Amino acid sequence: MTGRMRIRRVLEQGSVGSDVTVAGWARSVRSGKGVTFIALNDGSCLGGIQIVVGPELHNFEAVARLGTGSSLSVAGKLVESPAVGQRFELVAATVTVYQDATPDYPLQKKRHSFEYLRSIAHLRPRTNTFGALFRLRSFLSQAIHQFFGERGFLCVHTPIITGNDCEGAGELFRVTTLDPAALSRAPGGVDYSADFFGRATGLTVSGQLEGELFALAFGDIYTFGPTFRAENSNTPRHAAEFWMIEPEMAFADLAADAALAEEFFRYLCRRVLEECAEDMEFFTAHLDRGLMERIGKVAGTKFQIMEYGDAIVQLQRAKVPFVYPVKWGVDLQTEHERYLTEQVADGPLFVVNYPREIKAFYMRGNDDGRTVAAMDLLVPKVGEIIGGSQREERSDLLQCRMVEMGIPPEGLWWYLDSRRWGSCPHAGFGLGFERLIMYLTGMENIRDVIPFPRTPRHAEF
Ligand code: 4AD
Ligand code: MG
Repeated sequence: MTGRMRIRRVLEQGSVGSDVTVAGWARSVRSGKGVTFIALNDGSCLGGIQIVVGPELHNFEAVARLGTGSSLSVAGKLVESPAVGQRFELVAATVTVYQDATPDYPLQKKRHSFEYLRSIAHLRPRTNTFGALFRLRSFLSQAIHQFFGERGFLCVHTPIITGNDCEGAGELFRVTTLDPAALSRAPGGVDYSADFFGRATGLTVSGQLEGELFALAFGDIYTFGPTFRAENSNTPRHAAEFWMIEPEMAFADLAADAALAEEFFRYLCRRVLEECAEDMEFFTAHLDRGLMERIGKVAGTKFQIMEYGDAIVQLQRAKVPFVYPVKWGVDLQTEHERYLTEQVADGPLFVVNYPREIKAFYMRGNDDGRTVAAMDLLVPKVGEIIGGSQREERSDLLQCRMVEMGIPPEGLWWYLDSRRWGSCPHAGFGLGFERLIMYLTGMENIRDVIPFPRTPRHAEF
């Protein structure tokens, strides 16, 4: 399309009387006496532009009958809009129709339920809500690279196919080229030496272990990539495929880790408020009335920190009937996390120094012998959004821990090597990208913040 301008640019930079060409999809077509109005949207902004089509056009009749969802381009002149809330209308000189959408186009109504829209995930990006959402997702992903780029962090692409189960939770999706029928019949277990990689492999649950190796060469690094977990939890917060941002810093302890997490989180809050105002206002009006105010507050205030032990005391004192009982040593459930961040802290809250039994093998043992230098950042409505720790950099303690947890050291010889030569204190964390988007938009289900969600029994699109 020669000279096509994105509608967002037309609205921001256009001037009355100028000639422009735009192209997009009709959100609505209203025909009156001798004039037709088309609300045209090209995905570049929420509102789109109103097209005014008069009877002098040779294809006026056909244009007046166009269905919602039709694709077209329009060349014409910008005029001042008499309607409030929009700067210009485009008076069409020519309208080129690419395809007239038939009345069975599923997005006829103004409002559809999120459940229904999930069943047409191939079309939902054309709605206001998902348009705003995926614009925000794209913006955030660039802002994240910018944040680390500006601070001298090296971007490292850690492998997607891997032999290690970093979190040790046994949630690896298997990757194999072995014949599935032969797999199930294999006597005495599967012989992975005959497999593609000559060993058992799966999809990564975290880029952390490889990230650590790079931190011990480049100082400050981060990964931002797809992450896979075969955990069979059908909750609004878990996806089998999600994206994670994992920075790792050499010569850093837990306090430095929390400081980076806080700076990062507040930076992202500020950027979306400043640069995605139109979409953020939409989320505030339609998904969560308190959204912008809450995020504005978070951008401007220091986060609180609480010891795990104190969190347990707070929960035991709470006059709330939790489903999962609380005592020292239990892992926090979402109901506990939300109570702490919503009722106790009334804002983001770091919980630090968890019992070693409930955390991964790589976390640094504290001097008390029973906790590790772990931190989770909890936020209202979502619960855990960041998980991180200072790493066990002492080779002997790390090996003991692996033996205790039944992790064969042979499989991680390369990781253990990083503790042999030039080991140093280091720390990092993982931010779940989808949970971040849920937090920043008020969207309550993880299935509605990722283009094509993968959850138990769902991988259709
Ligand atoms: O707490 P997690 O499991 O930590 C790690 O994977 C560490 N290796 C990170 C690190 O220290 N480099 O996961 C980190 C975050 C969680 O806080 C959560 O936001 C998100 O990843 N997350 C999920 N998001 C969506 N669906 C799931 N199934 C998720 N599991 C974790
Ligand atoms: Mg965690």
